[in-house]
Amino acid sequence: MGEDPLLSWRKEFPIVDTCTYLVSHSLGAMPRRTADYLQQFADEWSRRGVRAWYEGWWEIGRSTGDLLAPVLGVSPGTISMHQNVTVAMSIIASCHTYGGARNRIVMTDLEFPSNMYLFEGFRRYGADIVYVKSPDAMRTDLDALLDAIDERTVLVPLSYVLFKSAYIQKAAAVIEKAHRVGARVILDVYQAAGTVPLEIAKLEADYAVGGSVKWLCGGPGAGYLYVRPDLARELEPGIVGWAAHAHPFEFATGRIEYNEAPERFQSGTPNVPSLYSARAGYEIVGEIGVRAIREESLRLTRRLMDLAKGAGFRINTPEADEERGGSVIIDVPDGQIVAEELIRREVIVDYRPGAGIRMAPHFYNTAEEIEHAMDVLTSIVHDTHARPAARR
Ligand SMILES: Cc1ncc(COP(=O)(O)O)c(C=O)c1O
Repeated sequence: MGEDPLLSWRKEFPIVDTCTYLVSHSLGAMPRRTADYLQQFADEWSRRGVRAWYEGWWEIGRSTGDLLAPVLGVSPGTISMHQNVTVAMSIIASCHTYGGARNRIVMTDLEFPSNMYLFEGFRRYGADIVYVKSPDAMRTDLDALLDAIDERTVLVPLSYVLFKSAYIQKAAAVIEKAHRVGARVILDVYQAAGTVPLEIAKLEADYAVGGSVKWLCGGPGAGYLYVRPDLARELEPGIVGWAAHAHPFEFATGRIEYNEAPERFQSGTPNVPSLYSARAGYEIVGEIGVRAIREESLRLTRRLMDLAKGAGFRINTPEADEERGGSVIIDVPDGQIVAEELIRREVIVDYRPGAGIRMAPHFYNTAEEIEHAMDVLTSIVHDTHARPAARR
């Protein structure tokens, strides 16, 4: 294997010198320059006080969204920033009504649970939730999903990459069917953005949501919402606040006069420090380019899978490159205990019930780290099973 040019970025991520950091599907490594941005926030607050609002803070949602736009494959001015995916998704949910014949939310049973919890709550407004059953915990059933989307469907929340298996769903086919019957698709790109190239505008997705803490190496509290520009002009979110008003500083009472997009999807005061904490990760991912990240990710995940197969472990991630996102899920007996032991031995991973141990190489990881992680995993599994069950 030749030297990977992306490894020059390792020095920008202090944590990789202290452990084998393979958990970027959960919390990406913090870029060194994030500390400078957080310091900048503190300095502005401390030295400029309230004047900071009109020296960049008030518009920080738009400027942060614009920085992210090329990574998602959308135009500037189409992204608003929110606390997290759940809030972004609620704002979209509040743009629709559920009292008539078109009241169905259709999603697969492998969606991220909070997407389910949120829409379950919309039953009180008349929504009918249809869960499309998957054949296993790895892949969804595309034909069954397409069949379930019909003239009664209002929204289809769809993970671009599944969190449990890293399976890349066939978003284009789902969007095509949804549009044919007048339904809209909310793409959840959280497990894709920063590791799988995205062309959300070309895909003609109606909405896209995601957050920053995984492959984008940002801090928490920086969720994003993309709305297709032609839809954005006509939508009137019910979950809305003064920052979405066309003239917020007039403090007009009564019914809101919506601003243009993306501000019309804003709720209240922007989450300034969180958006500062997201900036360095977006810059670095944008500078490297997701295509280059993806190439290296495929190389490392393939190596990880080969080693796992060689060790006789079951893999709950698709084998084909075009179906696999950035993580590899390895199913071993007593996965939770094994994951805890990996972390104790400084190999940082996580575990998801019904799936297995998730490992996620990113552009700052080396092939040697993959080999080390697999050596440690193999020895833990061997030791765990050499011991009597009662002591595990
Ligand atoms: C695909 C996906 N969607 C949504 C979420 C949750 O997002 P949030 O905590 O920002 O609401 C996660 C978190 O792991 C996720 O993997």
